[in-house]
Amino acid sequence: MMRPNCRVCKVCNGAACKGEIPGTGAMGDGSSWTNCTEFLSRVKLNLDTVYENRGQDTTLEIFGHSFKYPIFAAPIGGMNHNYNGAITDRDWTFSLVRGAKAAGILPFTGDNGNDAQYELGLEAAKENEGLNVITLKPWRDNDKLIRRAKEMEAAGCIAFACDIDAAGFVNMGRDISQIGPKSVEELRELTSSVKIPFLLKGVMTAKGAEKAAEAGCAGVIVSTHGGRVIQSAPGTCEVVPEIRAAVGDSLKVIADGAIRSGTDIFKALALGADAVMIGRPFVVAAHGGGAEGVALYAESLGGQLRNVMLMTGAADLAGITADKIRL
Ligand SMILES: Cc1cc2nc3c(=O)[nH]c(=O)nc-3n(C[C@H](O)[C@H](O)[C@H](O)COP(=O)(O)O)c2cc1C
Repeated sequence: MMRPNCRVCKVCNGAACKGEIPGTGAMGDGSSWTNCTEFLSRVKLNLDTVYENRGQDTTLEIFGHSFKYPIFAAPIGGMNHNYNGAITDRDWTFSLVRGAKAAGILPFTGDNGNDAQYELGLEAAKENEGLNVITLKPWRDNDKLIRRAKEMEAAGCIAFACDIDAAGFVNMGRDISQIGPKSVEELRELTSSVKIPFLLKGVMTAKGAEKAAEAGCAGVIVSTHGGRVIQSAPGTCEVVPEIRAAVGDSLKVIADGAIRSGTDIFKALALGADAVMIGRPFVVAAHGGGAEGVALYAESLGGQLRNVMLMTGAADLAGITADKIRL
């Protein structure tokens, strides 16, 4: 179903699809994606099963909600131009949002020049108790963002986001003139227009995270759009410790890029993330099994995470600390 754009490789690491945008790949030489995979492979786990077993609680408390796992499903747009249209954007959106809810994780959906994608996300959020975080493009027109933020708040959305790293994303085609970077003041105007929390997606430096905090964001998603917006960026998890050190507990920090297993989730949390975001494999799951596929994939990741916690002596997410990994 996914040919030719996604080969459903055994290891989803950007090797086969590099440079394929539109498509599922990372930009140019693909290095911003492969750097994520390589960095994660250099982080090692410290095995320790000598402790009083209190079980392994994977619950994440965030934005006033309790989730079963610290896993967010990433916004992925364009089933037609990035994949091959075997499933529609509607099927994808509803498979993702319903499957995520069934598994107890939080989904995100996207936005593009065509209002339909945003509206689908809103419809899915309304159907699922607001449990969908719509990720708006960084439209130059701040009033458009504010209008949509108010609409999402009225619809009961738990939070909203903006992929600020799409500021110069070539895949936006003729809409590229409508998007761009945003100042702290513009972001503050947006965050203060509503009460629901706002996440800035595509932050890769401590300075960027400090600016997000200044702008009133609730959190940052440490991300390069799966390597799709720039080449030669460091692995996203590589910069998580410095971002955490810069912002302390003032912001939620979400690690996004090449996270593929419970082991990777554990590493990201030990490096300082509150949660992880995972993209492409959820699309594979939805092609294979719709909402059920999405839920099964999330459950499988959660089971793997629980096993790593057992093998390293972490009773809950707060117990996933830096001393449990080795660089
Ligand atoms: C085909 C494709 C489409 C994407 N569309 C969006 C989007 O519309 N909005 C967005 O914020 N991120 C988008 N992303 C980036 C993902 O949200 C996420 O950051 C990335 O896929 C994470 O890396 P992973 O796939 O290695 O887990 C897209 C990624 C891919 C591969």
